[in-house]
Amino acid sequence: MKTKITTVTLNAAIDKTYYVPDLKKGTVMRADKVLSMAGGKGVNVARVLHQLGHPEVAATGFASGYNGKFIMDQVKETGIASEFVGALGESRLCLNFLDGQDGSSTEVLEPGPDINEEHLDNLKRKLRQLSEESKLVIFSGSIPKGLSSGLYADLIEISRSAGAEVFLDASGDPLLQGIEAKPSFIKPNEDEIVPLLAGNGQQHLYDGVQLLMAKGIPNVVVTLGGEGAVAGVGGKLYRVRIPKINAVNTVGCGDAFVAGFAYGYVRDWSAVECLRYAAAAGCANALSAVAGDVQQTKHQELLKQVHVEEGNR
Ligand SMILES: Nc1ncnc2c1ncn2[C@@H]1O[C@H](COP(=O)(O)OP(=O)(O)OP(=O)(O)O)[C@@H](O)[C@H]1O
Ligand SMILES: [Mg+2]
Repeated sequence: MKTKITTVTLNAAIDKTYYVPDLKKGTVMRADKVLSMAGGKGVNVARVLHQLGHPEVAATGFASGYNGKFIMDQVKETGIASEFVGALGESRLCLNFLDGQDGSSTEVLEPGPDINEEHLDNLKRKLRQLSEESKLVIFSGSIPKGLSSGLYADLIEISRSAGAEVFLDASGDPLLQGIEAKPSFIKPNEDEIVPLLAGNGQQHLYDGVQLLMAKGIPNVVVTLGGEGAVAGVGGKLYRVRIPKINAVNTVGCGDAFVAGFAYGYVRDWSAVECLRYAAAAGCANALSAVAGDVQQTKHQELLKQVHVEEGNR
């Protein structure tokens, strides 16, 4: 039986965090500390799956130039199979300046490499091969500049015809068009679900979840940050309640949630168990300064404090 889970990050990046004591525009500042992490949403999902103890995790997408080499090396060192394909120029460096005075975060995101037809063909070939070997393929994040926002629908088709199940965590047009290919799982947050419901006069979140299930998506989760999540699995509705915690950094909570759900899903756990595992992973991520970082001990502790109720209240 296949156990491999592959994550796809079309916009992989190095997330570089500068800890600056007092951020002032137009001055020279010295950083107290610098942290560089391989990132992009799918890379975060892969890292958390590995931390949760999933034995076979692969990461693909585009990684290019010196930054791409850094991403691939770090992915490998973590214990994840690095299966990226190249493009032209440098993978993105995403700079985050954390101000020690007010705790604010100021970001500068690079545009990323150029991707031509040949690079895209290479990715599709790699994806087909990995999908044949994988039980599940997870697509996460935005689509790079210059590529069609319908790309996820094409890629989902490739993975499915190669025998893998598919999750999609995207937003905007890529999600809207990706849904047409009927992934097994989507996870919009409260803002991301709004455009999916436009024109249907749907007000209530549960109505939205039901509408998306009716479109042929068997697992629909709307995460609500510190308020937990609502979900629809196999035609039933669920409310996921999480404990109040002192969140340190909520970036990547959605990625940790996706990883937690995938961990249970490939093991055929019940909806309640998948949701509980996922929400505890999201919470645990919020306790770490790093995006896409779930410590097992914290996850185990939080599992006891997450409650999943059937029904729409
Ligand atoms: N402040 C918080 N306190 C506790 N748990 C949180 C908090 N924020 C998020 N979580 C957990 O993580 C899950 C996903 O969070 P959220 O809705 O913020 O995802 P998201 O917006 O997709 O995040 P991202 O895309 O940045 O990874 C929540 O359902 C919850 O379990
Ligand atoms: Mg998200």
